[in-house]
Amino acid sequence: MTQFSSVRVFVACRLPPECRALFSERFDARFNERGRTLTADELIAESAGAEVLVLTATDRLDAAAIARLSPEIRIVATYSVGHEHIDVAAARARGLTVLFTPDVLSDACADTAFLLMLGAARRALESSDLVRSGTWTGWTPLQLLGRDVHGARLGIIGMGRIGRAIAKRARGFDMPVHYHNRSRLPPEAENGARFHPTLDGLLAESDFLCVACPASPETRHLIDAARIAQLPQGAIIVNIARGEVVDDRALIPALESGRIFAAGLDVFENEPNIAPAYRTLPNVFALPHIGSSTLETRIAMARLLVDGIDASLAGQPVPNRLV
Ligand code: DGY
Repeated sequence: MTQFSSVRVFVACRLPPECRALFSERFDARFNERGRTLTADELIAESAGAEVLVLTATDRLDAAAIARLSPEIRIVATYSVGHEHIDVAAARARGLTVLFTPDVLSDACADTAFLLMLGAARRALESSDLVRSGTWTGWTPLQLLGRDVHGARLGIIGMGRIGRAIAKRARGFDMPVHYHNRSRLPPEAENGARFHPTLDGLLAESDFLCVACPASPETRHLIDAARIAQLPQGAIIVNIARGEVVDDRALIPALESGRIFAAGLDVFENEPNIAPAYRTLPNVFALPHIGSSTLETRIAMARLLVDGIDASLAGQPVPNRLV
């Protein structure tokens, strides 16, 4: 028995067994057993009776859904660092506590950013296809020429926790780091990275442009045709944030023409029904939103939420509290 073992928690998202166990050990936890994401109506119905609702980025909690939540629900905990799927203002107005999972997934996401950079620049998809198709005729100096990652200039949009973890790795690749952020970091956090007060100032310096900023109405289609035109010829674009930040209608033609050498994309607009061109263009190295998908990180995310729910119930400070 723990202090809050009778607190009813409904976990709407599907979790690895190790994470489910963390919720079950601490609370009276019920889980979505349908083997798929719940519809909005199912989410409302199945969470009825719970005091805590755990969901993730694919479970939309807009103002209308918040208004329909069972009145017993006091805490909404999202198993994600992104929280654009929750109407935070409506949650605050209703007096809900909202928790999320910052920090613990920054390193996994930064690793994925490098997977995307390397995969896109070194033509990993085409290389792997060549081997697996059995059509490889042997080494020649001409085959599959990519671009150097080491030594290239890296522009990072959004120097939050994930952006800084990417910058840290870039130093190991001898990449001069440039960044644009709402505010300049203190020098010790900047660690030699060059701040650009405007996004336009960053673009011309970015052989690799890495999108690592949150999705919001302000960042929707931030990377549009005009911005892509300011990147150096043959630049590489990587998106580890949210698909909505990049305008597909601008990126796809730039990839088709070669203006942009390649893209490494972990996130897309309208997932999983992505723009068809991303499935066929050879210069797109695409991953299915696996930025934080390691077992270690999944467990750390669950532990952070479980501890946050505990602290919140106990009336203690909660470091991963949004509202
Ligand atoms: C996150 O934590 O925000 C991941 O992108 C999953 O949505």
